[in-house]
Amino acid sequence: MLQPRNLLVPLFIFFSLGILNGVVSEPQTHLLSSECNAYLISNVFQDSNVTIFNQNLNATLQDIKEQISTVQNKHFVTSQQSNGGNPIATLFQCRNYLSVADCVACLNAAAEPIRQCPAGTSGAHVVYDGCFLRFDISSSFFEETTQGFNITSCGNQTIGEAITFTSEAQQMLMNLQRATPTITGFSVATKTQVPNNGPLIYGFAQCIETISQSQCEDCLNSQYNNMQTCLSSSDGRASSNGCFLRFSTSSFFPDNQTIPITPWKKQASSNKGIIIGGVVVGVSLALILIALFAFIIIRRRKNAKMISVPRGDIPGASKLKGPVTFSYNILKTATKNFSKENKIGEGGFGAVYKGTLSNGKVVAIKKLTLHHFNKIDEEFESEVKLISNVHHRNLVRLLGCCSKGHNRILVYEYMKNKSLDIYLYGEKKGYLNWKQRYEVILGIARGLAYLHEEFHVRIIHRDIKTQNILLDDDLQPRIADFGLARLMPEDKTHLSTRFAGTLGYTPPEYAIYGQLSEKVDIYSYGVVVLEIISGENCNNLEVDGDDEGGYLLQRAWNLYERGMHLELVDNALNPNDYDADEVKKVIEIALLCTQPSAETRPTMSEIMVLLQKKGLLESMRPTMPMFIEIT
Ligand SMILES: *[C@@H]1O[C@H](CO)[C@@H](O)[C@H](O)[C@H]1NC(C)=O
Ligand SMILES: *[C@@H]1O[C@H](CO)[C@@H](O)[C@H](O)[C@H]1NC(C)=O
Ligand SMILES: *[C@@H]1O[C@H](CO)[C@@H](O)[C@H](O)[C@H]1NC(C)=O
Ligand SMILES: *[C@@H]1O[C@H](CO)[C@@H](O)[C@H](O)[C@H]1NC(C)=O
Ligand SMILES: *[C@@H]1O[C@H](CO)[C@@H](O)[C@H](O)[C@H]1NC(C)=O
Repeated sequence: MLQPRNLLVPLFIFFSLGILNGVVSEPQTHLLSSECNAYLISNVFQDSNVTIFNQNLNATLQDIKEQISTVQNKHFVTSQQSNGGNPIATLFQCRNYLSVADCVACLNAAAEPIRQCPAGTSGAHVVYDGCFLRFDISSSFFEETTQGFNITSCGNQTIGEAITFTSEAQQMLMNLQRATPTITGFSVATKTQVPNNGPLIYGFAQCIETISQSQCEDCLNSQYNNMQTCLSSSDGRASSNGCFLRFSTSSFFPDNQTIPITPWKKQASSNKGIIIGGVVVGVSLALILIALFAFIIIRRRKNAKMISVPRGDIPGASKLKGPVTFSYNILKTATKNFSKENKIGEGGFGAVYKGTLSNGKVVAIKKLTLHHFNKIDEEFESEVKLISNVHHRNLVRLLGCCSKGHNRILVYEYMKNKSLDIYLYGEKKGYLNWKQRYEVILGIARGLAYLHEEFHVRIIHRDIKTQNILLDDDLQPRIADFGLARLMPEDKTHLSTRFAGTLGYTPPEYAIYGQLSEKVDIYSYGVVVLEIISGENCNNLEVDGDDEGGYLLQRAWNLYERGMHLELVDNALNPNDYDADEVKKVIEIALLCTQPSAETRPTMSEIMVLLQKKGLLESMRPTMPMFIEIT
């Protein structure tokens, strides 16, 4: 993409300096940002001297130019001077796909706006497509990632067939975000083809080399999030001090510079056939099982990447009241020796029995299936102590526990109305009216807000789904099984016999990378809300023409995009019974929760505010969810 207007200036400077290191093809001096600090050095240093300061600035620029011109393949340079007590630190980063000549040309171009800052300006930055130049009186910005500035710039041309394009672009950016920090030089150029003869997408990511691998990862993650607004444009750039991310449907680097990042893709999703991104096409149950298998492997491999909530030492646990301890024999009698007829369910953590205590009180008794006993013994007590101190009207109460031999048993209050799935797509389908459903939606939000934000230890549930939402006598929701995930070894948390049914509630960052935060629950909550509105299971594949078909989340998105939200509403609901705007708003909230980037999902307390607010959501537009494609 030769743009003569942009080329003239750098070419002129380049030749006027008489350096000829090769042919200038395109130094990419399309300007993204140029800014001079508001402070002058005289505001900062008493004995500042602008003349000396400028000499120091010139010296760093000269030094940088020498380094990039003489050292092969050097695309990142810093330089510092402090003559006469006027310190200056300068950083220059050139895109790795540019030649030495282009880098020098880009540097010369970037030096111009910097020299034009008011005399004695204490710092400035210039970002071009091709390079990044910054100076300041302190070198602390060498370690900055996103603190100083963020720039996002989307191309003005939009893409037709946006859905497949967006998922493909998202997938590529996510892969870049993952691969770049692991590569020496922190720089990756890649390309990918949108399926069905769609366009090629070119992508590039780069971090400055003075930050750590994890800072690079965090920085790219921020830019990935900032980039979401660009994903239906033909190109986009997002940049901050620490990193640069760009994609375009036009090639902006030589073909021989691309690095195939398929190995990272494979590592992330294994080669068993699960690919995230793209639109769901034909899926069979067998393939879901393969995906499940792949998932298990990923989760095992990715343990190191888990951001887990601290285990063991629970702050303040010693001050908590201990749980009631039940004797094994009492529980055995209460459940008629854990008989089949008393069994009321089989969850991810073990079988659940209905039990009647000698005083007539009915309880739910959960016999945990745990494998790593040594580990569990250390944690079981403090964990159970913690859970038994969680009291909230939307959470199932833990009444006590029992520990005998290898048996670990939890005793909960009994909910005779069973779980939400039965009311949505089970034997009681259509039983709940809109008002009751809305109460359930709000109640789950209250319960989760308590676990995430109000209880003194943040508890991430990790397995929010309709089977884990019980209904009390007033049909108010009670979340079950919270806190238990912490008792399980990491790779066992979701892997029950029911796992395949849980896939649809799992957000992409947890499924692929095992990245755990409370936003995992937010995603699952969004899916549950869509189920409550539609009366459909999220793992049900509807094959019904092009636009109407697909999984629940996909259909919800397609209908939302066409402004036809209300088509999603359960036929069992009487249209005179609900306020169309309210239902629309709740659907949009659910879609905010299922956004692919965890950071952009609202928190539970924000969701409660949105739910209770009158009218539609203005200015909050969800981004398209990422669909799981199984090929
Ligand atoms: C700044 O430094 C230069 C060179 O050392 C000197 O000639 C000049 O007088 C100084 N200016 C001030 C204001 O101190
Ligand atoms: C710095 O370099 C620019 C351009 O090369 C020149 O115009 C300016 O006089 C120099 N400033 C100092 C203080 O040397
Ligand atoms: C840049 O964006 C990131 C993520 O969106 C944010 O955390 C950071 O505070 C932003 N920085 C500035 C200076 O706005
Ligand atoms: C897009 O931007 C370019 C310049 O960057 C301009 O020449 C062109 O007219 C713009 N196109 C539209 C459709 O706005
Ligand atoms: C890429 O190709 C160009 C010519 O098109 C060549 O000059 C350059 O050396 C090649 N770079 C690499 C890394 O192979």
